[in-house]
Parts: sequence; structure tokens; C-alpha cells
Amino acid sequence: MFDVLKPQPADALLGVMAAFAADKDPARIDLGVGVFRDAGGTTPVMAAVREAEREVLARQTSKVYVGAGGNRPFAAFIEELVLGSAHPARAAGRLVTLQTPGGCGALRLAADLIARAERATRVSVSDPTWPNHTPLIGGAGLGVEVYPYYDATSGTLLFDEMLETLERLPAGTVVLLQASCHNPTGADLDAGQWLTLAELLGRRGLVPLIDLAYQGLGDGLEADAAGLRLLAERLPELLVAVSCSKNFGLYRERTGAVIALAPTAPAAGVVMGHLQSLARRMYSMPPDHGAAIVAAIAANPDFRRHWLEELEGMRLRVTGLRRPLAAALRAATGGTRFDFIAGQRGMFSLLGLDPVAVAALKQRHHVYVAPDSRINIAGLAEPQIEPLARAIAAVLR
Ligand SMILES: Cc1ncc(COP(=O)(O)O)c(C=O)c1O
Repeated sequence: MFDVLKPQPADALLGVMAAFAADKDPARIDLGVGVFRDAGGTTPVMAAVREAEREVLARQTSKVYVGAGGNRPFAAFIEELVLGSAHPARAAGRLVTLQTPGGCGALRLAADLIARAERATRVSVSDPTWPNHTPLIGGAGLGVEVYPYYDATSGTLLFDEMLETLERLPAGTVVLLQASCHNPTGADLDAGQWLTLAELLGRRGLVPLIDLAYQGLGDGLEADAAGLRLLAERLPELLVAVSCSKNFGLYRERTGAVIALAPTAPAAGVVMGHLQSLARRMYSMPPDHGAAIVAAIAANPDFRRHWLEELEGMRLRVTGLRRPLAAALRAATGGTRFDFIAGQRGMFSLLGLDPVAVAALKQRHHVYVAPDSRINIAGLAEPQIEPLARAIAAVLR
């Protein structure tokens, strides 16, 4: 059986990680992999997570199954975190939330639900988008098409072009949006653009699937969900794929959720039944540990306060690096080409470099970025800002 299998192409980002690991130059800079790093270059277990984990372990008396919906207190907390405690859709019972194995699990389950509903066969994603969106959606049998979003050479959002394309999509098409901290561009919609988008989606009968993987790392927990909440107030249906990997630092615990907004409370119940049955046939139930930690943080005011403080510290670290990096690039290049970095949000920006320049960064300057020239700002230590700017300026020449 296995002899018919063809070798798979290597994952490009894993290749960048391996090349970085093999590079012994003391000045090497790793801006490839998309994980948060503190000023010392590590991806720490958050102190609030450690506290909550100790409590979970002390309290847990059984490892019995939790059920296809996952940890229910976790789901209730995530729903509140994402939509706010007073969102009208919550009061109306139009929301259901199911715990998933990470944000990827949520995206795949959402795609399976879309496929099962048989209304949409294609999902429209931003150009560019996080590379894993395509296989996650395609894995459910759906096609993927793109809408214009960002011009990487000028560092500008292509909002008018995005609207023009969405305007032409057939009713019922699903549109994948990123709530905040857009991966890979760092370019987000502003409040007015979310409003315009909400009007278009409603009028054209398009259904948003919103990827929320960086809540709290852009402008703050509330602000990062504001656009999504606005859509949920105005539209009859939407889906949200939530990841706790970054804002709780729970990467390997595979902690996330899918939230569905339905037109009525009974319809929401039907959607929940489908989500549970889809989960059941794919992986049966999600792992509990990360969700139990998040639920313990939610339930304990001290843990919650610690988590909020730590998350804010992470956010400030990433946003605080943007201005100095943009300023150093201005000084090194003598131009304004990279000024956009200062105004963007989240961990990523796209340098807009071609593959030759990306390779030169690696080979001549020991600077590792994603193949599409995405940089993870959180990978940067302050003393590396100026050498990085000089390296980028050098490969432009
Ligand atoms: C845009 C985006 N969506 C979703 C995810 C899913 O993350 P995970 O499955 O690790 O929770 C990520 C992780 O990098 C991401 O960048």
C-alpha cells in the first residue's frame, strides 16, 4: 500500500527553522517561526498558566472523557472573551461554542460544517493569507479562491479592491477574514472598514468565517475583537475559529474553539449537533488539559489578573518593537519604504522582498524570515534591530 505514496514536499517554514538551527553564527536572527518570544528569545510558559495548571492537577480526580463539545466552562469563557459578556447574540441564545484541538482544529471543523451545509463549495481568503488556510479548508473538500487584500511592495491595504471582488461573489459564499493581527501582513481593517464590510456581507448574503488567533496581541482584548463583534451584531450567521495558542501560550496543548452564530436559538442547537457529530467522526473529543487551564484562569480572579497583565506585557513588547524597527529601516535605507511597519499590528509584517533577497538575507546576513518575506517581530531582541535594518538595506541594493 505505502509504495504508491509519493514523497511530500518539505514544509517551507520548517526548512527555515532547520536552517536556522544549523547556523552557528552568533549574530543570527530568527524571524521565521510564528511564535511569541520574550526579550530573552524564549517562548515561556505564562506564569498564570503555571499557577492554573498546578490547581488543575491538584483538583483533577479523573481522566474520564469530557464529551464531543469539550470543556464547557472553557467554552463559556471563550464565548465571553470573544463576543463580550453583553453581546445581544449571546442573550438571544444564537451562539454555540465547541472546544477544538487548537485554532487549526477550529478552522477544519468550520470548513467541514460549511461542506456539510452544501450551500458554499468555495471559501474566499485574503491575498495573501496564512499558508495553512488553504490545506485546512481544502481538506474539507472546499475550493479556495482569493480576494485582493494587501500590496506587499507598497505596504498598503487594498480595501476598495477587496470590496469590488466580494461584491461579485455568489450569495452564500464563505469569506475568511482575520479578526486582527493579520497573518502574514500585519495590516488590519479599521472600524469604518469593518462597518462597510458588514454592510456588504449582509446585503450580498456572504457568510464570514473569522480566524481569531491573536486576540490581545494587537490593540488589546476588546479592540482586537471589535470588528468581529460588529459583524455578529449585524449578520444572521457567522463562524469564528479561536486559538489559545498565542494569547495563553498553550501552543502544544492544542486549545481552541469554534463559535457559530445562527439566525435563531433552535438553529444554533442544530449547528451544535452537527459540530459535535463532525468532531466525533474526526477525532472524537478534543484534549482537555489546555482548556482546563484556561477555565481555571477564568474562574480564579487572581489567575485572571495575572494572565491579563502578562498578555498586556506581550502585546506591549511586540507593538513597542515596531516604531524602532521602522525608524532603523528608514535610517538604513534612506527611504520611507518600510514606514508601514510602525502602524501595523500583531506579530507579523511582510517585508515585500523577492525570493532572491530572502535568500541573501539568510546566506549573507544570517537573517531568517519566512519564504514570503514575513517577519515575526516577536523574534527580535532590541540589540538586533539595527543589524537587521542594515541587512535588509543591503539586500535591497
Ligand atoms: C492566522 C492563524 N490562524 C490560526 C492559527 C492556528 O493556531 P493553532 O492551531 O496553533 O491554535 C495560527 C497559528 O499560527 C494562525 O497564525
